[in-house]
Amino acid sequence: MKISVIGAGNVGASAALKLCEKGLAEDVVLVDIMEGIPQGKSLDISQAMPLNSSNTKIKGTNDYSEIRDSDIVIVTAGVPRKPGMTRDDLFNVNATITKSIAKEIKLHAPDSIIIVVTNPLDVMAYLMMKETGSDKSKIIGMAGVLDSARFRAFLAMETGAKVEDIEAMVLGGHGDSMVPLAEHIMISGKQVSGIISKKKLQQIIQRTKDGGAEIVKYLKTGSAYYAPAAAIVEMVESILKEDGKILPCSVYLEGEYGYSDIFIGVPVKLCREGIKEIVELNLTGEEKALLDRSAGEVKDTIKNFNI
Ligand code: APR
Repeated sequence: MKISVIGAGNVGASAALKLCEKGLAEDVVLVDIMEGIPQGKSLDISQAMPLNSSNTKIKGTNDYSEIRDSDIVIVTAGVPRKPGMTRDDLFNVNATITKSIAKEIKLHAPDSIIIVVTNPLDVMAYLMMKETGSDKSKIIGMAGVLDSARFRAFLAMETGAKVEDIEAMVLGGHGDSMVPLAEHIMISGKQVSGIISKKKLQQIIQRTKDGGAEIVKYLKTGSAYYAPAAAIVEMVESILKEDGKILPCSVYLEGEYGYSDIFIGVPVKLCREGIKEIVELNLTGEEKALLDRSAGEVKDTIKNFNI
């Protein structure tokens, strides 16, 4: 198993460290355009491996040919948000970067599964598919796993329940219109309505939607990376172990949930070939209406940016 991580910044390096610590691949390659950064960070990570009893080898490089024959390529290269920016504000600069990386993946690792992390996420995943020409089953956007983890973390903070006893999912686009599913929350096997007031739940839903922005506001010079890296690794583990976990990911739809020619967050099962199955949940009327709105916004962005 060979995994390449493009972008040795906060998200990419954190993901590479976690992949190596968990020994999820024989080889990890960390690529960046900044000279010395991927090399230095990889050397640092490799020196942590004896302390993690992991024999994963990591190599840092500026040379894209090193990603050749990767099984999975994780794309985190790009500019993060600054306070007050929306993810869509990153489009122009990150689209140019994503296009150049797509060319390299097409050349060196055309059969790889590509996990797209760069924002604006759903649009970048769409662009990646268009530019690589890869099969739709091979392109997976990372957003829903992160947004759902944020949702569960806030529900745990409110109720004191253990995070592993909280089921909650966020679908839709990775932006202000994302859809935390209010009617699909289970806390210690019980419906949320008996545990949290409607008003409090609405506040938690809003905080989940603003989860990324809340962190950007604190950090000022960048965006979140620990939880994004953990979400990437959760997806990689599910791909490798084929554990049948239902994970919300941004994937290309052709009629599922009534949407076509769009990347948007829906529940999927992953496997070593990529996307194994798109799971169609029974959404309530309100949840579906919110998802329709979110899909409409992602479609508009794709159209506005002329991809
Ligand atoms: N090829 C490789 N690496 C690149 C390229 C490129 N063409 N262009 C930029 N990079 C690198 C930068 O040199 C930098 O090291 O991408 C890295 C980005 O790192 P950070 O600035 O720390 O950004 P990060 O917080 O990791 O976020 C990256 O992920 O979550 C999203 O919104 C976030 O779009 C952003 C991306």
